[in-house]
Amino acid sequence: TFTDLDGRLLALKPDVTLSIAKTAQPAPSETLCYYYHENVYRPSAESHTFKEISQMGLEMLGAVGEAQVQQAVCLAARSLDALGAEWVLEVSHMGYLFGLFDALGVPDAARAKLLEKLREKNAHELRAAAGAAGLADAADTLCSVLNLCGSYADTLAKAAALCRNDAMRAAVAELKALAVPLEKAGGVIRLDMTLAGEMEYYNGLVFQGYLKALPRPLLKGGRYDLLMQKFTPGAGAIGFAVYLDELDRLSAPLPPVQKNSTDRVMLNVALPKGRLGDKVYNLLAGIGYGCPEDYNAIRYFLVKPSDVAIYVEHGAADVGIVGKDILTEASADVYELLDTGLGKCRMCVAAPADYKDDPSRPVRVATKFVNIAKSYYASMGRDIDIIKLNGSIELAPILGLSDVIVDIVETGTTLRENGLKVITEFMPISARFIANKASYQFKHAEMDTMLEKLRAELQNKEEAK
Ligand code: PRP
Repeated sequence: TFTDLDGRLLALKPDVTLSIAKTAQPAPSETLCYYYHENVYRPSAESHTFKEISQMGLEMLGAVGEAQVQQAVCLAARSLDALGAEWVLEVSHMGYLFGLFDALGVPDAARAKLLEKLREKNAHELRAAAGAAGLADAADTLCSVLNLCGSYADTLAKAAALCRNDAMRAAVAELKALAVPLEKAGGVIRLDMTLAGEMEYYNGLVFQGYLKALPRPLLKGGRYDLLMQKFTPGAGAIGFAVYLDELDRLSAPLPPVQKNSTDRVMLNVALPKGRLGDKVYNLLAGIGYGCPEDYNAIRYFLVKPSDVAIYVEHGAADVGIVGKDILTEASADVYELLDTGLGKCRMCVAAPADYKDDPSRPVRVATKFVNIAKSYYASMGRDIDIIKLNGSIELAPILGLSDVIVDIVETGTTLRENGLKVITEFMPISARFIANKASYQFKHAEMDTMLEKLRAELQNKEEAK
């Protein structure tokens, strides 16, 4: 941001790092270190709408070697430690993933999708994305990266064993060099090879810091040499930002229901009310999680199906089970750990039997799933006018409100009864087990136990068919 002589705000910036990287211009072999405390204007993780966010950060630019990397990561750890709450620093390395992609011959066009699925810890869709990119043979190897998550030393040993080229070995060596200085940091340091930053931004070491009681990372950083080299050829850069607004939550009192009266770690589970909820509850009862509270240290709460992802993303629930339709529509930033296969249906475009597309004008689309419909038509480059409805979507084309609808189809009865037909099916849907990313850092043991039981139960059911 910048102000005029009276201190009035004249502009809003989405980012501070970029302007520091642009103006720093370090001389060869010089290392410049900056810190800042600024407001930035960007979509807030809380509301998903644009907001001024208070941010503090550190950047080291120019000659950046092992010593600077260690210094930056250790400062991030010290920043977390200074706040006096339990904390976790998650470390990863983009060079490891890019090295693996090179070794597996992953085409450039497929990389963003694979990174997205890795970041979601989404094994089933990672496998599907690998298949779609013509990499079915590499799917097992890609999925094995999902297991590279846990305590620093153990995970590093596993990551070292999977190395296939020099780029991967160099990444492991850099992570290994960090182990000793980080040991003294005080909190919990975890290695998670699925933690992938934005591809064009970070190219080496990346890290995120979490504080207990906060639903999102408080701190994010990493190496961004490629961005830096756009302004100063040959220079390197590493930095991190602390999202100060997130700290507001630390001072808010915990509601009584979220307080833990036992020593056991309590898992808060959001389940959808209604049809899907019944199926999900039966599944959980089948793995011995039917008896909440005292026995399993589980707390269930039932919410509107369309709200499950929101409760989990905001940390009011640690985990939840939610339809893929709702998860996609909400673009919730959560881990998608398992496809339960319950509530199977598909997202479709449907229209009256005699419908013909008129390419000379936008298609009028009625739907509850505005974001899904927009991104589907955007992927085809087709203009649309969206009409958002809240139910009984099938009436819209009958009454001339829209040309087509985008809706879920399960048995097809609703469409048949209303004289509509499916034009395209474009998204398979089923209920997914999701987790809050911050909760996962502190309660991963409990979540993994539940997940393993769910996996085993679903496999038994599949085999019994
Ligand atoms: C969904 C969808 C269709 C129906 C499709 O509605 O909007 O109306 O299910 O299922 P079918 O192919 O088996 O007929 P839902 O029951 O979820 O409730 P809603 O109408 O309140 O959205």
